[in-house]
Amino acid sequence: MQLLNLKNQALALIDQAGSPEELKQLQIDLLGRKSELNQTLKTLAKLPPEEKINLGRQVNETKNAIESALNERRQQLGGRTDQWLDVTAPGKQPPLGHLHPISQAIEEIQRLFEHLGFTRVRYPEVDWDWYVFEALNMPADHPARDEWETIFIDAPKHPKLGQMVLTTHTSNGQVREMERVKTPPIRMLNIGKCYRRQQDPTHTVMFHQFEGLVIDKGISIPHLKGTLDYFGREFFGPKIKSRIRPFHFQFTEPSFEVDFTCTACSGRGCRFCKSGWVEVGGAGMVHPNVLKAGKIDPRVFSGFAFGWGVERVLRLKPGLNIDDIRMLYSSQPEFLNQF
Ligand code: PHE
Repeated sequence: MQLLNLKNQALALIDQAGSPEELKQLQIDLLGRKSELNQTLKTLAKLPPEEKINLGRQVNETKNAIESALNERRQQLGGRTDQWLDVTAPGKQPPLGHLHPISQAIEEIQRLFEHLGFTRVRYPEVDWDWYVFEALNMPADHPARDEWETIFIDAPKHPKLGQMVLTTHTSNGQVREMERVKTPPIRMLNIGKCYRRQQDPTHTVMFHQFEGLVIDKGISIPHLKGTLDYFGREFFGPKIKSRIRPFHFQFTEPSFEVDFTCTACSGRGCRFCKSGWVEVGGAGMVHPNVLKAGKIDPRVFSGFAFGWGVERVLRLKPGLNIDDIRMLYSSQPEFLNQF
């Protein structure tokens, strides 16, 4: 109560002050060492803690009110104020975000293949069975389909294209691209989201793949190998080599698994890779039945295709060492800000 009175009296005095000099004197009387406010402050030390906090807060509020009234009146009287503006002070940088590491990797992969003349395309994330399996030489009930732990959409079947599924791989773009371009040459890079029923440190239900498809006259395995080597050098580093091993996919013949030199040990062999090589995905020469499904004559044209996970190659980048790719989707700024 006492303080409230003090404040009201002080504000009235400040309001009545007629010159900057008068204000200066008031500042000394009201806030100075001998002021009532300062005396009150001195009694604080002897009070019990609870009262101390309470009174302390009131003293501070009173002091702030008096100070800002003094400033305001000073401004009105045309004197200098305690407020200042340094126009030469460096500005405050608002925090700037950046692209998600997966988006950065996608951009890098796209740029790298554009140098070889590939065109980036996007095809549906929810697609018909036909493009995802059937046209890729996997008829209904073919056991090879089991490889793709497919999530089906609960929707009516299309009379010709079958059931709707979440795309399990970017290979659904192969026949779609043949339909779009019609006559080769085709140099497609399809990057998109894929979905499978899986969840562990190296697999997430939603992930990204990129798929290359090249079709022309006289395309053979060395073209594929050269493209893989180029990718390895550009994405992982100049000393990285690729290796292809026989494998099986319904939509390529012959089919391969693709390995790159381990980036952790430069191919010497370590705890992580054991053999010096790390497997990244699949590849092969486009099966004649797939070309036929895309209305391209396999007697005239041949092609190669490859496809694998963006997350997979990102975690292998030298120096990254991402043990658990689920971290990439954790939305933790502490993790994402490192990229
Ligand atoms: N689509 C295959 C997969 O998801 C990879 C692949 C692409 C294999 C192209 C051969 C050719 O595993």
